[in-house]
Amino acid sequence: MSATTTHPNYSPGLEGVIGGVTTISEIVSETSTLIYRGYDVDELASHGTFEETAYLLLYGKLPNRSELDAFIKTLSDEREVPEQVYTALKQLPKNCHPMDIAKVGFAVYGPYDPDYAKVATDQEANRRKAVRILAKASTIVGNGHRIRQGQEPLKPKPEHTIAQNFLYLMSGNEPDAKTAHVLDSSLTLYAEHGYNASTFACRVTVATLSDIYSGIVTGIGTLKGPLHGGANEEAMKMIMEIGEPSKADAWIRDALATKKKIMGFGHREYKKRDPRAIYLTKIAKELAVEKGQTKWSEIADILENVMETEKGIYPNVDFPAAYAYYVLGIPIDLYTPIFVIARVSGWSAHVLEQLANNRLIRPACIYEGPQSADWIPVDQRK
Ligand code: SDX
Repeated sequence: MSATTTHPNYSPGLEGVIGGVTTISEIVSETSTLIYRGYDVDELASHGTFEETAYLLLYGKLPNRSELDAFIKTLSDEREVPEQVYTALKQLPKNCHPMDIAKVGFAVYGPYDPDYAKVATDQEANRRKAVRILAKASTIVGNGHRIRQGQEPLKPKPEHTIAQNFLYLMSGNEPDAKTAHVLDSSLTLYAEHGYNASTFACRVTVATLSDIYSGIVTGIGTLKGPLHGGANEEAMKMIMEIGEPSKADAWIRDALATKKKIMGFGHREYKKRDPRAIYLTKIAKELAVEKGQTKWSEIADILENVMETEKGIYPNVDFPAAYAYYVLGIPIDLYTPIFVIARVSGWSAHVLEQLANNRLIRPACIYEGPQSADWIPVDQRK
């Protein structure tokens, strides 16, 4: 490490740096708890729906019956996207990753939003945009999947929840209740998580007084990486590469010996267990037994045990999500886009919060390059 990187104000990866104040969610590492606006996430996932959680994040309170009914009606009314979005998605190469499809979908839709011309700081317009973004995310991802397979987009059904809308568009079939319920719970768990990389990136974008759609596109681009949301896809590929429970112990020990990063494990904020992973592991295991597909969770158990005993590192939410989604029959490259369907609620809540008390986000850096370089005319340079 160079002398300057020991500067007291420098923390690589901004670890431990407080980037702002929020009233949206709190992570408590010591007790492995996560609350959204005061409510324990386990309670929201077990008693409520993703729509209720999204309302809580966007409006700051749980909806009463009439507020929830009105919110669900607005989401249904706003679920369609203009034909121009589908026309744009049809131009993309068929090997385009669904995260890039989602990014393009929102980039194209933004200028069609009825509030497009409103200034970035118009919070009422931003809230309406946030609801449209939430309503359209499952349609863009679901119909985006159809389009890349050469199928025509389907018209969303107004009676569907967000989870059902995604599953219906993805498969063309009416989703069964169990599948929709598991997906719905995972959306609640994925909805919000403080100043994670994509949320922070989204706040940085809107803090310049750019617009909420630019913030969402930034968020999707940031979430895509395997160190962040992309880990759920990589975790499933790893579990499938291992293939059999009998091979898992040797595989993971070899991976650790060769300093491989084990996807779906570790977290910057949780030094013990990720409460979302605890909750989702339980659901994923029950689902595996019910569907008669326990092989993947058996492999997962072995990886978890070795990671805990050898490294003291625990699974994060992306690990059980991976094998739960696999058992639900969801194509692997849609796992991170599902994270988008959920996280647009958290990103939008953070956009509203950022703009309510905005200041440009602009950290400093330490310069370690050369000093006093002499100008040499181009033809004389080596
Ligand atoms: C998400 O921030 C959020 O809130 C994100 C998220 C959200 O809801 O928004 O929770 C969603 O992004 C979950 C994380 C998904 N990513 C992965 O599963 C990828 C694998 N995980 C790691 O790469 C890592 O744990 C991170 C990226 C999640 C965290 O990285 P940090 O905090 O920068 O930690 P680090 O990489 O510096 O690791 C610290 C130590 C290292 O060992 P030493 O060099 O100190 O000996 O822990 C080891 C690492 O090698 N380590 C791992 C590991 N994670 C940490 N070793 C092997 N496999 C791992 N997964």
